[in-house]
Amino acid sequence: MTSPDLPAELKAALEARLKGFSRNDAAERSTSISKTYRDGGGSGAIRSEADALAYALARMPATYAAVTASLNALCVIRPGFAPKRLLDIGAGPGTASWAAAEAFSSLQDFTLLDANDALRKLALDLASDSFRLRDAVYERGEARSLLSKAEAADLVIASYMIGEINESEQAALGALMWEKTRDTLLVVEPGTPAGYGRIIALRERLIAAGAHVAAPCPHDGKCPLQSPDWCHFTQRLQRSRAHKQVKGAELPFEDEKFAYVALTREPVAARASRVLAQPTVTKVEVTARLCTPTGVKLTRTPRRAKADYAVARRWRWGDAVSDER
Ligand SMILES: C[S@@+](CC[C@H](N)C(=O)[O-])C[C@H]1O[C@@H](n2cnc3c(N)ncnc32)[C@H](O)[C@@H]1O
Repeated sequence: MTSPDLPAELKAALEARLKGFSRNDAAERSTSISKTYRDGGGSGAIRSEADALAYALARMPATYAAVTASLNALCVIRPGFAPKRLLDIGAGPGTASWAAAEAFSSLQDFTLLDANDALRKLALDLASDSFRLRDAVYERGEARSLLSKAEAADLVIASYMIGEINESEQAALGALMWEKTRDTLLVVEPGTPAGYGRIIALRERLIAAGAHVAAPCPHDGKCPLQSPDWCHFTQRLQRSRAHKQVKGAELPFEDEKFAYVALTREPVAARASRVLAQPTVTKVEVTARLCTPTGVKLTRTPRRAKADYAVARRWRWGDAVSDER
């Protein structure tokens, strides 16, 4: 399993860029960028080198953690997956490329696409410190037009990106991302009802186009969850001093909620159930809500079933588990 915390190399590169910038100024910029996101705006508010750095210090640790958690879940289901080429769509500061480089030592060829010049410059600057990423190609422009000319890749990732484009663009970009996927497409979004809604819409369209779900769902059928319920997961990450200062936060960690789907060309061999919320463990039993190949189930594992109880008490929200008894 890859750690959800930024690799030391990236953390050091980010903090080195902060030298010469005022931390208060970075905090103000990050607050204003976050407000734009909350108000439904996108990354267009990131215009300068200082904006890009403030965004990356405040958000890159969390989006990195969400992508890493999704890749870890994919690797549990497909342990032999060894992609060579990556396409990172809406790459921003290069978050998903860093996460994929950590998760897959097999990756040799990284292509990043994004419209934002300030984020592209920061990404190239950060990548110049990395042995794995320093030869990455980063193209600037509108995702769909760049992608239509790009060579297909074994792994395609769009992290926290599709929420910045409208529904018809999402459909068109989703189809194109799938066309450019040789093996696996991973899409990660914030773990909100709206983020989940975008993941589910894309999932349904691409299954209709022949895709199979590797994670998180143990089936290619319709999502059994009913509103107001929505499928999402959470990943804890440590906050560095700079991260806390830029966010004006005190706690040394934060929990990032995210929703994701990993779609593959070939159906996966094993269909494990997915833990949908943190199980409740008491001295009497473990109660867990699972998404299974045949629908959502509330399972109770009594303490008297010693071996099963010992296994179930280690289940965590987001795990792939076998619930055969
Ligand atoms: C919230 S940021 C996420 C960045 C990065 N993937 C991450 O997870 O940290 C969204 C990124 O998508 C890019 N983006 C949004 N719409 C785009 C489009 N139509 N074409 C290219 N890039 C786009 C933005 O410029 C921005 O860098």
